[in-house]
Amino acid sequence: MQQVSTTRSHIFACTEKSQQECFNRMLFSTNKVYEDKIFAVKKGDILFLLNLDSNTLYGTFRAKSDGRKNIVPEAWGGGYPFQVEVEKNGEINTITNAATILSKLGISWKIVLDEDKTKLLTTYVMNPNRFAWGDLIHEIRGRKGNGKTLASEKYDVYEKPKLESTTLWDYPRQSYGKTPKGNNKYAGVTPAFIIYNLVKRYTEPNDLVVDPMAGSGTTVDVCREEGRRCIAYDIVPASPNVVSNDARKIPLDDKSVDLVFIDSPYGDNIAYNTHEKNIGWISAEADEFYQDLEKVMSECYRILKPGKVLGWLIGDQWVKKKFTPVGFNIYQGLCKNFETLDIICVVRRSQTSNTGIWYNRALRFNFYLRGFKYLFIMKKPEPKLKVQRKRIVRWSKYSRSKTMVT
Ligand SMILES: C[S@@+](CC[C@H](N)C(=O)[O-])C[C@H]1O[C@@H](n2cnc3c(N)ncnc32)[C@H](O)[C@@H]1O
Repeated sequence: MQQVSTTRSHIFACTEKSQQECFNRMLFSTNKVYEDKIFAVKKGDILFLLNLDSNTLYGTFRAKSDGRKNIVPEAWGGGYPFQVEVEKNGEINTITNAATILSKLGISWKIVLDEDKTKLLTTYVMNPNRFAWGDLIHEIRGRKGNGKTLASEKYDVYEKPKLESTTLWDYPRQSYGKTPKGNNKYAGVTPAFIIYNLVKRYTEPNDLVVDPMAGSGTTVDVCREEGRRCIAYDIVPASPNVVSNDARKIPLDDKSVDLVFIDSPYGDNIAYNTHEKNIGWISAEADEFYQDLEKVMSECYRILKPGKVLGWLIGDQWVKKKFTPVGFNIYQGLCKNFETLDIICVVRRSQTSNTGIWYNRALRFNFYLRGFKYLFIMKKPEPKLKVQRKRIVRWSKYSRSKTMVT
């Protein structure tokens, strides 16, 4: 049997339509949905190409470069910008009925394959007719049984959350992945999934993200893992990665930031700290609360580059028999400068009011417990083009009736 050298490997998918361009250019690629796959590829990794239409697997190839964006911007008409240059790794073999083979080997094309799975798949692809299923599977099971952790259990890009596609976001946990994001003991800590979704949707690697009220540093931790630069401030930092600063004056240049995320106080419901400039001391029923947060909005507007995004998380208040639409009030302030991209409803979980006592109170005294927060996704408008094209109405397209009926 042909010997294989092993390392990590990755399976890239293509279709009947895109396959030829993969081979002509010796370039594999993904769209934004699977961009993590590309950024996980390092020069020298083993690669396979899976044609999803014909159910055929080709291999093996090697990565000639690390995976990155737009190596050949015009390839596939710009539709698959996350790319890696490849070269043949010896003779290229073709495996038909690929889905069944991958399933038998316990391999998903969506994850990074560790050394064991790479060895398994490479051995099969190089020697499909002489492959001793029993021996290899036994060997892998044996190693697992010996208590050794397979590398794939340590590293899987798809331990990352799935990106949201609707306007209703619901997270049962505060964080994801194997490293903590922020401190889930910090009162008012932000669900890391929210920041992850904004960062992935609205920024590129190395972009600058700013959180002016960052508390325990959830934004910093998410950005680090995604290869984004991050500057995080708080009036009283609760993490060494957060710098002390009042959000009403941010020490950054105009138009220098690619994304601002902010999870501000919702009123005076949480005692974050004792600092006199903590906006969390001011009641959401007071005008001063909104005036101060509008100063923060102006600063966010000033530091953002035109066309870039601000995500603002906020919840309403029901205190002492009085409802305050904090979200609507904040939204009105945001609309003074920003354009709305969308409004997300984030389900509130892990609330202190998630108890039987509060359930009974809500029914007895006829009020509702807070069940959601708003995530306002706002855009700093781009400057209007000076020369505006005249809108031409092509009346001839509309049929006109000969007689007017009155
Ligand atoms: C909802 S918490 C943010 C939680 C944070 N995103 C996290 O995950 O840990 C609101 C934060 O606003 C901060 N804050 C209140 N007033 C501030 C001010 N004037 N300038 C900066 N931060 C302020 C509080 O200290 C608190 O940490």
